[in-house]
This record gives sequence, structure tokens and C-alpha cells, in this order.
Amino acid sequence: MQTLNIIGAGQLGKTLGRLWHQSGLFRIQSIHNRTLRSGQAAREFIGAGQACPTLQSMPVADYWLIACQDSEISALAKRLSKRPDNREGTVFFHCSGALSSEALDILRPASIASAHPVHSFADPLRSLDSLPGSSVALEGDGPATRALGGAFNAIGCEIITIEARHKSLYHAGSVFACNYLTTLVDLSLRSFAAAGIERGSALKLLAPIVLQTARNNMTLGPEKSLTGPIARGDLDTVSNQVENLISVDPQMARCYRHLGLACVALAQRGPLSEKSATRLIELLSEPPR
Ligand SMILES: NC(=O)c1ccc[n+]([C@@H]2O[C@H](COP(=O)([O-])OP(=O)(O)OC[C@H]3O[C@@H](n4cnc5c(N)ncnc54)[C@H](OP(=O)(O)O)[C@@H]3O)[C@@H](O)[C@H]2O)c1
Repeated sequence: MQTLNIIGAGQLGKTLGRLWHQSGLFRIQSIHNRTLRSGQAAREFIGAGQACPTLQSMPVADYWLIACQDSEISALAKRLSKRPDNREGTVFFHCSGALSSEALDILRPASIASAHPVHSFADPLRSLDSLPGSSVALEGDGPATRALGGAFNAIGCEIITIEARHKSLYHAGSVFACNYLTTLVDLSLRSFAAAGIERGSALKLLAPIVLQTARNNMTLGPEKSLTGPIARGDLDTVSNQVENLISVDPQMARCYRHLGLACVALAQRGPLSEKSATRLIELLSEPPR
């Protein structure tokens, strides 16, 4: 069985490690985190491998996953390049959405790749069940991408290919849909709190509408899913909401305005009249300083 070393077995690294261990695809050989204690906890989660205190103490492996924060990837690749592992046949990869395989250039002649799972690993235990069915955006050298395509397929993931030069914009697409959606739910909870609705009740009343909206978007597309005051061109409602949000928190009002402008642009692809759109844009644009 081919061996895998993991540098940075955090939320993503330990989930992939456990899934690959359970699938019997890789033998998880060693794990190196910033602290040995964290590496040992990751080892417990994965159920295999040996926690190593340093990069140098990790044994040679066929595959190396560098799953630390994006800002650390290049520095770790540089340190790894001083080991004898960067030889033809070895595969090095990272899972950043924003960076391409070029971050690992220094490790050639090994084969390098980036493989970004379009998935949120906020809770690794849940991800063990929910990752299968997700897509992984893959780019890099032929041998690495072919091998990793098979490795991700083996744990139930679909592969899409992406060009290195498009990674930043591709990742922005995931940030909008995942991270910004989470932030929108938080803004919604803050607005409910200002209206006297406590968090538990707010989450309960939000769940069906958030899930329904997500389902509508995925099946009908955003143009047909948009409802509410901006889609209807209801200026008074929008104006009142801006005023009330300003009195609660000006930052929330700014978010409402900026997103509202994007909402007008979307509504214009539907039945919103030019006249209503123009008046909404005036209303939602930041007042001159
Ligand atoms: N989380 C997601 O939902 C998600 C989704 C798709 C892609 N990704 C990508 O996956 C990668 C990892 O993200 P994550 O959220 O899993 O990060 P994370 O939970 O913060 O884990 C990062 C791990 O890297 C270790 N680490 C940091 N610097 C290190 C160093 N210099 N040497 C050795 N280990 C080091 C940390 O060790 P300690 O535990 O000791 O601090 C930690 O275990 C990133 O490239 C990210 O863009 C993440």
C-alpha cells in the first residue's frame, strides 16, 4: 500500500487522513503538526500513523499532503525541498482553494498538485459523512493529478479540473457561497436579536427558510429564487430597514446597502423595472461624505 505523510493534520488534514485510512487506499505513515500534542490528537482521530515532532523526523513517503494554513505552505515546501524526498515518483500536494500547485514548484522533480475540496470542514466528525458527494478542484502535474483523482474518487468525491491561473477567482466563488453565507446568517441573527428574538428561536425560524432558499437556488437558479422587497421594488420597506439598521449598528446598515446593490443587479435580470432599479440604487448607495 502507498504511504502518505500529513503535515498539518487540522480540520481538513485529519478528516482526509481518516477517510483514506478507512478506505485502505493509503497507509497513513506520519503526521507533523506545529505541536507534538496536536499531532498526537490528530493521530488518535485518524486511527493510524505516527506523530513526529519535527519535519526532519518524518520518514520518506510516496505522498505528502501539506495541509497547514495557506500562508505556511510555501515556507514548508522550501523546508521539505532540503529533504531527499523531492524525487520523481513522489507526489506533493496541498488543498488550498486560493493557491495553485505553483506554491510547491521548489519540490520538483517530484510531481506536484493542488486539490481543493469544495467542502467546509468546520466539524471533522460530520465531514466524515458529508464529504462524500463533494467536488474537488484539481490542477497540477499529470502524474499527481491522475493519482489524486483516483484517491479522492475512492472516498466518494467528484473531480473537476481547474487552471492554475484561475484559482483565485474560482476560490472567491466558494468564499461567496460558503463563508459569506455563514456571515449572512450571523447578520440575520444580529438583526433578529435587535428585534428581541433570542438566538435559539431565531435559528429555529431561520432553518426552514435558509434551507428552502438554498434548495431553490440550486434547482431554479438565483434569478428565479429572488423574492422580497428589492425584487418587488418596494422602496419604502427598503428605506425603513436602512434607517432602522443604522440605529442598531452602522456596519450592519453598510452590509445591507452593499448587498442590496448586488441584489438590485440580480433583480434587474428579472422583472424589476428600470425606474425602480434606479431609485433603489440611489437609496442604497452610500451617502456622500
Ligand atoms: N477548513 C476548511 O473548511 C477547508 C476547506 C477546503 C480547503 N481547506 C484548506 O486546507 C488547508 C488546511 O486548512 P484547515 O482549516 O484544515 O486548517 P487548520 O484546521 O487550522 O489546521 C492547520 C494545521 O496545520 C498545522 N500547522 C500550521 N503551521 C504548521 C507548520 N509550520 N508546521 C507544521 N504544521 C503546521 C497546525 O498545527 P497545530 O494544530 O499544532 O497548530 C494545524 O494542525 C488550507 O490550505 C485550507 O485552505 C480548508
